[in-house]
This record gives sequence, C-alpha cells and structure tokens, in this order.
Amino acid sequence: MDLRPTCHIDTYGCQMNENDSEILLAYLEELGYTWTDNVAEADAVMVNTCCVRESAEDRAYGRLGELKSLKAQRPELFIGVAGCMTQQPGVAEDMARRFPHVNLILGTHNLRRFPELFSASRTASRPVVDIEAEPEEMPLFPRGVRQGGVTAWVTILRGCDKRCTYCIVPYVRGREMSRPVEEIVAEVEALVRDGVREVTLLGQNVNAYGKDLPGGSINFATLLFALDAVDGLERIRYTTSHPRDFTQEMVEAIAQTQKVCEHFHVPVQSGANHMLRRMARGYTRERYVDLIERIRRAVPTAAITTDLIVGFPGETEEDFEATLDLCEQLRFDKSYTFMYSPRRGTPAADFPEQIPLALKKERLARLIAVTDRLSRDANQRQIGTEVEVLVEGVSKKSEVRLMGRTRHNQPVVFAGDAAWAGQIRRVLVARANTWTLEGEVL
Ligand code: SAH
Ligand code: SF4
Ligand code: F3S
Repeated sequence: MDLRPTCHIDTYGCQMNENDSEILLAYLEELGYTWTDNVAEADAVMVNTCCVRESAEDRAYGRLGELKSLKAQRPELFIGVAGCMTQQPGVAEDMARRFPHVNLILGTHNLRRFPELFSASRTASRPVVDIEAEPEEMPLFPRGVRQGGVTAWVTILRGCDKRCTYCIVPYVRGREMSRPVEEIVAEVEALVRDGVREVTLLGQNVNAYGKDLPGGSINFATLLFALDAVDGLERIRYTTSHPRDFTQEMVEAIAQTQKVCEHFHVPVQSGANHMLRRMARGYTRERYVDLIERIRRAVPTAAITTDLIVGFPGETEEDFEATLDLCEQLRFDKSYTFMYSPRRGTPAADFPEQIPLALKKERLARLIAVTDRLSRDANQRQIGTEVEVLVEGVSKKSEVRLMGRTRHNQPVVFAGDAAWAGQIRRVLVARANTWTLEGEVL
C-alpha cells in the first residue's frame, strides 16, 4: 500500500495556469506527495486561480468555501492558493481575512518559493501571504509533471505587454519575458526522451517571443525552426497568437516547417473597427481579414479558431452585427465566445456606456447560435476525409476506444489498441459531433 501523503490541485483559467499547476505538482512530488483525483481525501490541496472574468473568480471562491468544512474535519489538511487572483491589489490580504483556514497564498511571480513557504506555512497560525514584485529575469522552474505524457506544455514567454483595455492579464502576470531558445530546446529534447511526441508552446502572445531577448535576431519564427529540428518530436502547437504581432515571416515559418500543426488560434475579439480601437487591439478588421487570407494562401488546409467578446462598453447593435458578419465571412472552425466582464483596475471597467447584463446575454446567445452552426458545418465537411491522429490513450468516455487529436487539435475517438499511445495513425472520419470526431483506423 502506498503510504505517501496525497495532493490535489484545482486549476482555473488558461493553459498558463495549467502549466504552473504542473510545476506546483513537481514541487509537491519532490516533497513526497503523490497525486489524487479526489479532493476530499487529499492531504494537501492547491487552488490555482484565474481572474480574467468574474465567473472564474466566483468558482475559486466557491471552492475555498467548500474546503473550509474539510479543514474543520481534518485540521492537518494543507490548503494553498496560487494564480492570478492573488496578484490583484488587496486581494491576497482580503482572502487571508475571509479564509483563515488557508495556509498559504502565493503570487504568480514566486512559484519557485513554494517548497520553502510550504513548510513554513504548515506551522503558522495565520495564512502566510507571499506576493512578490515581478522578477528582473525569467526564473528557472522545474519541468512540470504530467501523467502519462504523450503531449506536454512548454512555456516560452510569461506576461503580456499589450494592455488591451478589457484585460487583467498584464496586471497579474507582469511584462513579457522570453525564455532563451537553448533552454526551450533542451526542455523539449528532455520531454521527447520521456516519451512526449507533441508540445504546445505557451505564451499570452507567442508572436512577441524574443523581443526582449538580447541580440535582436531571435523571434517566434526562428524558435519554430529550431524546434522543428528536434528528433523524435512529431508535432508542435502554440497558443495564443496576437494578430498584431503575427508577421508574414511567422506565417511562412509555419508553412515551411514539418512539425508545426496547421491550426491557427487567432483571437479577433470583435468585427467592428470602432470596438477594436476602444479595446486597443492595434489592428483593424481589414488587417485581420488580410492576415487570415494570407494564412489560408500559405497553408490551404489551416483550421482557424478565434476568441470573441460581446457587450464591450459602447457596443451598438451595428457593432455586434459586424462581429456576426465577420464570423460568416471567415467561417471560423471554432470560436470561444465571452460576455464582457468588467475587471477592476482595467481602463474599460471605467468606460461609460456599460452594456446591461440582459443585453449582453442576448447577444451572447445570438453569437453562439452562429458560431455553433459554423463549427458544425466545418465538422461535417470532415466526414469521409482521412486525418492524421496522434494517439493519446484510452478514451475517458469509453474504455474500449482510444482518443487522439488531429493536426487541427480536434479530438477523435476510434477503436484500437491501448499500446498505440504515442503513435501516429491515419483515421477515416465517419461521424462528427459538435467538436469531437469519430472514425476508423485505416
Ligand atoms: N492573450 C490571449 C488571451 C488571454 S485571455 C490573447 O490576447 O488572445 C483569453 C480570452 O479571454 C481573450 O482572448 C478574450 O476573448 C477573453 N477576455 C479577456 N478579458 C476579458 C474580459 N474582461 N471579459 C470577457 N472576456 C475577456
Ligand atoms: Fe490580455 Fe490583450 Fe495581453 Fe491577450 S494580448 S493577454 S487579451 S492584454
Ligand atoms: Fe486567467 Fe491568469 Fe490565464 S487571469 S486566463 S489564468 S493568465
């Protein structure tokens, strides 16, 4: 019987947070803990928070409330909070007051202090709060731990310098800091030795990669070429792209490399120039359309996905319809749709002309009706085609089937042998659901 203490990490928000949770898990494993899926039986629980929208914050607060009764039953339970919420002014202190059952509150810049703070906070009578100003250089972290890894995340830059007027990320993640190419390549090589076949490069704006590095010759395109040469690696993905920094050199690098997948996640946010200007996105609808057309010329099989916000302050019916119209014009393969959520401290939260909640909800529903139809159409077009699938393992939903992803990042379910995990197979698509495909191995 395994007598090691167990840990659980709840992760909210984006892949950046998922990657940070893997790093926290690596530290916890070093401290002798082993993972459990069951929060109720864990000896240590971390809540890794997100504040990009109010709904994400509500979920984290709900979880902290639930943990209170667990702590009452088992006072030796360790509870820690990490992630972007803790970096907002006053929030960590407020959390410590409202949730005295928490042991540790840790900011996004000082993950590496987790092991020492973990021990110190176990014996403290009050929550230990450790929020650091952002470091001068990108700190070194241990490689994240991922169970059964055929795929892995690799952070290439932290922070964001863009300051879109609605967004809290630059305030809680600091300015852009790139990791040196050699360090990224070495990490990817080590992952490949451990059986990883696909990496996803992470950054809030991967196209800004390298701008802060000395020398001036390194950018996202050069990084892609360097990684394309790593033996044994099958696929490279990256997220998220910013339309403003997506240069033609990068489009061509993606077209020319073998391993970089033909999937472009390029958030547009709105189809109305008036909104894009007020969001400070730094491009117009016309420039965005031109970028997508250039991508489709260079990579004819590309899947294009996007993020959209409805109900940004001052959005008129006409602005909103411009977004619907852009979706129809560009036929996105998939769209992530959000209702604008005012974030304290961001410029847009103080803009007059905030849109009433009922109207935001109505617009979101109308938008989803359009984007869902477009995704269904895109999926239907795949029926009868052959797709390349990287087998990840047994499907969560059905033990007798396998799950893998296409180069477009679409999940595919099919019958096969669990020993195929990590292999590339060709699958004939037989059925399409809203986002997953079903098929047969050829
Ligand atoms: N760095 C990425 C995205 C970060 S947040 C980028 O620039 O594309 C992910 C998505 O959340 C954004 O693309 C945006 O669509 C949405 N988002 C960010 N702040 C928001 C807010 N205050 N309200 C609603 N949606 C928001
Ligand atoms: Fe937020 Fe804009 Fe930076 Fe993306 S690019 S993280 S939306 S400020
Ligand atoms: Fe959320 Fe922080 Fe990511 S605010 S979206 S977890 S960078």
